[in-house]
Amino acid sequence: MTDLIADLNAPTAPVGTGTVRLGQPVSRVDGVAKVTGGARYAAEHPADGLVHGVVVNSTIARGRIVSIDTRKAREVPGVLAVLTHENRPRMRSLGFAFKDLTAPAGSPFKPLHDDRVRYSGQPVALVLAETFEAARAASRLVRVRYDERPHDTNLLASLRRAHRPRPLKFGYKPPPSEKGDARAAYGAAEVKMDAVYTAGVEHHNPMEMFASTVIRGEDGHLTIYDKNQSSINCRSYVSRVFGLKKSQVTVRNPYVGGAFGSGLRPQYQLPLAVMGTLYLGRSVRVVMTRQQMFTFGHRPETWQRVRLAADRDGTLRSIEHVAIAETSRMEDYTEVVVNWSGKLYACDNIRLGYRLVDLDQYTPIDMRAPGAVHGVHALEVAMDELAVELDMDPLELRLRNYTEYSPMEDLPYSSKELRACYTRGAERFGWAERPPRPRSMQDGHELVGWGMATGIWDAAQFYGRATAVLHTDGRLVVSSAASDIGTGTYTVMAQIAAATMGLPLENVIFQLGDSNLPLASVEGGSSHVATIGSAVEGACVELQQKLLRLARRLPGSPFEHLTLDQVEFADGHLRVPGSPERSMRLVDLLAAAGEQRLEASHTLVSNMLRKRKWALGTHSAVFCEVKVDEDLGTVRVTRVVSAVAAGRIMNLKTATSQISGGVVWGISGALHEETYSDHRLGRFMNHNLSEYHVPVNADIADIEVLFVDEEDRIASRLGAKGVGEIGIVGVSAAVCNAIYHATGRRIRSTPMTPDKVM
Ligand code: MOS
Repeated sequence: MTDLIADLNAPTAPVGTGTVRLGQPVSRVDGVAKVTGGARYAAEHPADGLVHGVVVNSTIARGRIVSIDTRKAREVPGVLAVLTHENRPRMRSLGFAFKDLTAPAGSPFKPLHDDRVRYSGQPVALVLAETFEAARAASRLVRVRYDERPHDTNLLASLRRAHRPRPLKFGYKPPPSEKGDARAAYGAAEVKMDAVYTAGVEHHNPMEMFASTVIRGEDGHLTIYDKNQSSINCRSYVSRVFGLKKSQVTVRNPYVGGAFGSGLRPQYQLPLAVMGTLYLGRSVRVVMTRQQMFTFGHRPETWQRVRLAADRDGTLRSIEHVAIAETSRMEDYTEVVVNWSGKLYACDNIRLGYRLVDLDQYTPIDMRAPGAVHGVHALEVAMDELAVELDMDPLELRLRNYTEYSPMEDLPYSSKELRACYTRGAERFGWAERPPRPRSMQDGHELVGWGMATGIWDAAQFYGRATAVLHTDGRLVVSSAASDIGTGTYTVMAQIAAATMGLPLENVIFQLGDSNLPLASVEGGSSHVATIGSAVEGACVELQQKLLRLARRLPGSPFEHLTLDQVEFADGHLRVPGSPERSMRLVDLLAAAGEQRLEASHTLVSNMLRKRKWALGTHSAVFCEVKVDEDLGTVRVTRVVSAVAAGRIMNLKTATSQISGGVVWGISGALHEETYSDHRLGRFMNHNLSEYHVPVNADIADIEVLFVDEEDRIASRLGAKGVGEIGIVGVSAAVCNAIYHATGRRIRSTPMTPDKVM
């Protein structure tokens, strides 16, 4: 086991940072490395005699490859080989070998496996050359002849083909889909609304492109720097696909320039780079282009219908929420779109439905708050529409139906401080001043509107192990094969360890991003703090036990017979509170006991038995102001207040960044981001950042984030729940509701681009 920083160069806090508490806002320990170029990303690791690979993608959506002419490409000086399905190295042919740890039900795509084309942009060849330029020039000379077959990429034209998702063999269990009799209750109710909502495809556009640098050792060992959200997942994928022993492969992801779910599964540059290495016996790097970032996985388009019914006083009588989403022909990608509608509000009659349509495209993949971004949007816009029907304040309607109990799961919440989110958020925003009628506020030429929505997300905890080693020089090295996709894992884990052990933050080194480190689950589902953080705290408490045991055994020990709850670890000391003479520096303690290092570990497995009695979740209330120019159809989001309940906050600064980043993306999904398909070609057309719009600084104004008090020891031993995804949920609905308030016009399709607003 690696216990000291080898070539990982795990970042540490600047000297002088000193003691930290849990919750304290602490700057990123990796901040300096990231802004000075010290942090190396997957495509930046050097290797002797490195070969460069460039991928050729299919130009048709469905059919067969008749022939691939690589002669001209191979004639380019510096080109070493062109790999296709005909000459690639051996890989397993069973679909099971390609199933990564997060694969949905079905049969995963196998890159360069055979002559079948399953989607536009599918990799069909890999050009390997001494230089990147030679590989790129040659890649344009590869001629592919296809036998093209008819394809279907149009969800809205194929809704009739919708089918139930195939269940995963293990794990995922679909929730009950009906409680009471929603249809009858709808029919009998006094006030109702019924609407269809559509939401377009989005693509992850992290700054860092997917890349793999496969470094081949003398002994054939492969050290792979890869962009992903789990080095463990990618190591197991590579070893299974190519029939290698796990000990022959190390995957590292010490720095990841954003991923947002796109790195939960291995992407095709990884197996292709490994193929190159196995074929040539040399180190190989493959980097995707920005265009290729649109050729694997995306947030799926959805069609949703919501029907709500209530009494005159706003009491909900019926909730019906049905969604149809797209998937590939290969796998049934499922996400939780409708289930939130069975968790958020008190209601006796609920009916939920979720269906998929298979299309000739790549399998969609999780994108920040997968499912909830579209599902909660529809529910929360529908709630606003119902409030209009009721002539009731939309916040009042939410409070009227507030519940501490998840109706569909039939369980009480382990904690739910959503009411505090509503109250504190409304106060900060000034919601009480909102005139009820649409079109009643104006700023010069622009109409002004205020809208709000609720957000809900999971409080997930998976499995993970952490090891903590205290050295005689006072350094604490804590390790886990966790990831930091830009979310602050390095910082928060070091902070948890430092706070627990009472050591200055700069003394703590947290190592992550290496498949040889202690086992960790994927960094996904906002689970890393509750999972890896708990393992880190557990390892530190175990280390405290061991230190106390050493201390008790010292001759004439002032700690004899004491237990952990009678001592404290602070300022680098073990001491007895209230008796200053009974205190010892941890490094002196190690030296006195004749130990060079002291190691402790903890394995965290989520206690499902205990959790089964509770509904768990994180919540938010989002309030927003828009200014709309009706002549141009432009919408500006001028103010957002996001009040969040997500358990105990570990680091106020990084947590706030997570939420405000989520709000920015929520605004982006509401107004800017959309991937357009040309269904005649079966291809995404705007696959670049000039035509795929993401917000710039001028699009983002005031964002205020506040966390309400919440602590949940059922969610995790730290009391924390996780803040990665809750920040985006509900934001687009708040924007939509604000546009309605400004203009009196209801837009039921996102993004709400000027053509829809005008
Ligand atoms: Mo997140 S979409 O679970 O990386």
